[in-house]
Amino acid sequence: MSSRKSHLIIGIETSCDETACSVIEINNDPIEEITSQNIVELRVNLLSDIIASQIPVHSDYGGVVPELASRMHVTNIVPVVKEAIGEAGICLKDLSAIAVSQCPGLLSSLVVGMSFAKALSVSLAIPLVGVNHIYAHLCVAGLEHRRLKYPHVGLIVSGGHTGIYIVESPLSYRLIGQTRDDAAGEAFDKVAKALGLPYPGGPKISALATEGNREAFRFPRSWMRDTPYDFSFSGLKTAVIQTIRRISSRGGGGCHIPLKDIAASFEASVVDVLVEKTLKAALQYNIKDVVVAGGVASNSYLRAQFIKRGKEVGASVLFPSQRLCTDNGVMIAFLGGIMFMNGITTGLDEDVYSRAV
Ligand code: KG4
Ligand code: ZN
Repeated sequence: MSSRKSHLIIGIETSCDETACSVIEINNDPIEEITSQNIVELRVNLLSDIIASQIPVHSDYGGVVPELASRMHVTNIVPVVKEAIGEAGICLKDLSAIAVSQCPGLLSSLVVGMSFAKALSVSLAIPLVGVNHIYAHLCVAGLEHRRLKYPHVGLIVSGGHTGIYIVESPLSYRLIGQTRDDAAGEAFDKVAKALGLPYPGGPKISALATEGNREAFRFPRSWMRDTPYDFSFSGLKTAVIQTIRRISSRGGGGCHIPLKDIAASFEASVVDVLVEKTLKAALQYNIKDVVVAGGVASNSYLRAQFIKRGKEVGASVLFPSQRLCTDNGVMIAFLGGIMFMNGITTGLDEDVYSRAV
């Protein structure tokens, strides 16, 4: 643990289709070791938050093309990091540590960020901190909601992952259930594709759903009673796709697909399951505080339902702001900074991993 009290941390994110970089300043005076009790006392300044999105490139293909993603990271990483440093008004030599997404994600994308971060770490002679991207999504809620209590129940809902964690501290995440097949965001993206909407489908479905009837179609909800915290969205996705095909074939091609009603009924089905399983975990583990994070957590219907049902069962549900729900460098800098200040760093011989380790 460094004896300095103010640390500048750079966070680099390249796990999927966003090249992102942020610089934050963490002042830990008078804290020696950051715990769930004293994290609230950290003073954090967000100095820059730069994101280069690759969505226009991938949307032509209806989803993320890994080969293109890694090449775009190679092109974007230097300008994005330069911009983050410039916006923060600091010099590279002022940095205390370099945090980078290490897992989970697309290997060929992660490796671009990791190689860049290693080179920076060697040239500046400062520590490297490999960060678990999922934990970073959950942890960043504590940056904006400084009174967040630990332990809390954490639901991660992103394009690649859906799982429920018991978050004991900013450094301790215990997985109690996860999806057996598609992630929630993946189901949004696949259903959107079947409806002829461009990638990423989540925000488009969400916009259509606001004007649709959530009860127009009764799509399945997979409760998986034997493993109450696990999820399965592939049956739902198939049911929606079959409904779209049935309506299309009935109308002989030129028929009208009720996009808004399908979007609203699909969204209701996903959200019901996410809300009920997460709140069940909170009740069962006797934990009142819940964090919902990851790209799908920016969905307004999901946010509203969590708050409504949370109130009914006495749980307080918090979300990162919408900007910090989807992939960003701030969350990597924040968790990486906490790890660094607790003496957790990563060797230069370490690899990246497609799965969480
Ligand atoms: O966390 P994230 O930015 O990247 C991963 O780590 O996967 O999540 C991206 C996912 C995509 O599947 C996208 O469609 C979904 O989040 N998403 C949404 C919304 N905004 C993004 N899903 C539903 N409603 C939204 N408003
Ligand atoms: Zn993510």
